[in-house]
Amino acid sequence: MLRGAGVPTGASRVIPFGKAADTIVHEEEPFNAEPQRAALAERAVTALDDFYVRNHGSVPCIDAAGWRLRVEGLVHHTLDLGLEDLRDGRFQNAEVTATLQCAGNRRAGLAAVRPIPGEAPWGPGATATATWLGVRLADVIDAAGAQTRARHVSFVGVDRSEEAEPPQRFGGSVSLEKARRPEVLLAWEMNGEPLPSVHGGPLRAVVPGYIGARSVKWLNRIELRADPFDGYFQATAYRLLAADEQPGPGVGIALGEVALNADILVPDDGSPVPAGPLDVRGYAFAGGERFVSRVDVSCDGGMTWRQAELLDDLGRWAWRFWRIRLDLAAGDHELVVRAWDSSAATQPEDPATVWNPKGYVNNAWGRIRIAAAP
Ligand code: MTE
Repeated sequence: MLRGAGVPTGASRVIPFGKAADTIVHEEEPFNAEPQRAALAERAVTALDDFYVRNHGSVPCIDAAGWRLRVEGLVHHTLDLGLEDLRDGRFQNAEVTATLQCAGNRRAGLAAVRPIPGEAPWGPGATATATWLGVRLADVIDAAGAQTRARHVSFVGVDRSEEAEPPQRFGGSVSLEKARRPEVLLAWEMNGEPLPSVHGGPLRAVVPGYIGARSVKWLNRIELRADPFDGYFQATAYRLLAADEQPGPGVGIALGEVALNADILVPDDGSPVPAGPLDVRGYAFAGGERFVSRVDVSCDGGMTWRQAELLDDLGRWAWRFWRIRLDLAAGDHELVVRAWDSSAATQPEDPATVWNPKGYVNNAWGRIRIAAAP
């Protein structure tokens, strides 16, 4: 599909935060939006105006000059740092190209199985890739000095979410072991630009390989702890419930590493295409420490598969774009994609088998239906 197709012509549709005119807005306030499939397919490192936004509260207005980060808890020295303290050379700069993926990515596929009230029906665009610049969290932890009892590192942002019970600031934690990995950043730049406010400027955590919820935006508090973060967004939300469970503190499986996933971005689901040769493209992302080893595409519902070509390798922490040329006869077709990762795991076939009440981790085969015109 061409960029802008489906956007009313002549309408000056202004999407906030500099997002593209054809952005799919799930919610105005808090602002939640994802790009069209075709937009996401344009570049393996996503343009800022096509990068999805997932917020649980209003985007805070922060004066970068007066902004402070506190590093406290089970440390030997509490730190109180301004942006310049991080950038002035005391800590070495570090850059990582990493994919963020929301745990609710592709929820629409689960909601089609059984309704998921109160949750946005994200398509495949609640994921994107950027090159992040900042400092290593490990270096900041070393400057503070971790006490021997420290096992987890929590991040809290300045935004307050009324969705939480009780309303509270957004936060989450990762293990101290992950926090010390060189890929985990405190970032102030995204694709060479100052980190946009909607993406957490002036400073956010970037935790590659983990669900987007751990990459806390508008970060102003880091705490070294003996236990995982006990706030709403880790203890109650972002947990995988069994089909008959109700959300509650400690109920379900805490989400962490992203599960292997893939989807088709071009052509768009439901779009008309000419019969004959057709380039099909999309993404695959392994999450955690794993990488994408293979991507298969089927035109007969998974009876037979052909391997897609894996495109540019952006490194361990980024998704992999893929492409395959098919030759389609005139008529209706269903195309499906599945990826395999470095642990030889693959994706489940049917979203019904992974349905869960909050609609997280839909990593069932990517599936589109298209009509090829003679
Ligand atoms: N950080 C804060 N402070 N508040 C939030 O609402 N949302 C999280 C995470 N960090 C969130 C946050 C979620 S669920 C995701 S998927 C990512 O930010 C999305 O990052 P993005 O909006 O920059 O794409």
